[in-house]
Amino acid sequence: MPSKPVRIAQISDLHIKSPGALAYGRVDTAEALERCVAALNEFRPRPDLVVISGDLADTPTAEEYEHLKRLLAQLELPFVGIPGNHDSRELMRAALPQAYAFASGPLNQKVEIGGLDLVLLDSSVPGKPHGDLDAATLQWLEATLASSADRPALLFLHHPPFKTGIWHMDRQNLLNAADLAPIVRRHPRVQLIATGHVHRATLAMFAGVPATICPAPNHAVDLDLEHLREPSFKVEPPAFHLHNWFPGEGFGSVVTHQIPIGEFDGPHPFFGPDGKLL
Ligand SMILES: [Fe+2]
Repeated sequence: MPSKPVRIAQISDLHIKSPGALAYGRVDTAEALERCVAALNEFRPRPDLVVISGDLADTPTAEEYEHLKRLLAQLELPFVGIPGNHDSRELMRAALPQAYAFASGPLNQKVEIGGLDLVLLDSSVPGKPHGDLDAATLQWLEATLASSADRPALLFLHHPPFKTGIWHMDRQNLLNAADLAPIVRRHPRVQLIATGHVHRATLAMFAGVPATICPAPNHAVDLDLEHLREPSFKVEPPAFHLHNWFPGEGFGSVVTHQIPIGEFDGPHPFFGPDGKLL
């Protein structure tokens, strides 16, 4: 019996603050999430799950997670979250009790959804901006990927395991990417590595696998590829990712679409009732 397609929406880097507070004194991240949630609710076909790939809160505080929960209560889709460098494992575990693999420490989890496995990795390092997968997480990842070798798997983590060319982000990416690469290479069922942290859509290859960064619903890290400015952000068009898995030969295929958040003209038909191009 062939499996059905699976659609995973990914949103990232929400940076929710206490009610009324603006990120960096300028960005209303709560309003940005409200628009993002409305876009997710309206999208058809409905995604099967939403993965929030880190930096759910900003400072972080319990009040920020309470605010986040109120905003996410409007989301009509199931969701899972993984921590980023702006999160607290303890506060997030309390706010979003999910099926985490460990009772304490990193908030790793595996989600089986239709014919697809999602492996969510906690790359956060308490109190630090950079990412690292600790020994227990790497061991768990190896065992988890070995456990059902015939099912395709998507890996999600906050920190990209590759350099983007943005100088101040590249010193705080996944610093032990060299420990992740051999595990990915040993398990061909890994079809995609999906990350966040940089707030902008990016595509690279890592250990022979496509690797993406999801854009944010709020502000983007400025695309400064030559150290022209001090670390800066820019309010660019907000968006999210939709990872579609289609069953097929081998592990099937994964296609990622970037979906802008907002009101846009259309859709309009290309053809009139006579079948001719309008
Ligand atoms: Fe981050």
